[in-house]
Amino acid sequence: MALRNIIEDGHPSLGMVCKPVKKVGDHEREILDDLTETMRNAEGVGLAAPQVGILRRMVVIEVDDQLYQLVNPVITESEGDQFEYEGCLSVPGMRGRVHRPAKVKVSALDRNGEPREYEGEGLLARAFCHELDHLDGILYNSKCEDYERITDPVEEDEE
Ligand code: NI
Repeated sequence: MALRNIIEDGHPSLGMVCKPVKKVGDHEREILDDLTETMRNAEGVGLAAPQVGILRRMVVIEVDDQLYQLVNPVITESEGDQFEYEGCLSVPGMRGRVHRPAKVKVSALDRNGEPREYEGEGLLARAFCHELDHLDGILYNSKCEDYERITDPVEEDEE
């Protein structure tokens, strides 16, 4: 595993629509592991492949000590609404509130290429939505309110 460089807002790769992964093999597993190591090193709750300059549909999320490594993830169901602060490792020092579903279901391939279903609510639902947006070139700050500088970064969850 290796740490990757996280690119920041303004870099053109963050605005691109990522391509689907055709086959999950050793190379893709290595990317998932690098994303995981990079996310943990940065103390984030999620990281998407385009944030390290890889324009493929892969994300990692870690919430409540549960690690999710998702390939070609799609939101299949969503319900309710939440309006909470989000941050992003590609937008350091900032936060903003985004309307997200309270609960989502996601289908994706796992690291072995097997189809899986995931369910998340609260922070996990926000993380699914935030990371999947990255795959379509969307940063949370393009649709947030109350955008502001973080005064106490320790309390923020950055994705
Ligand atoms: Ni992000």
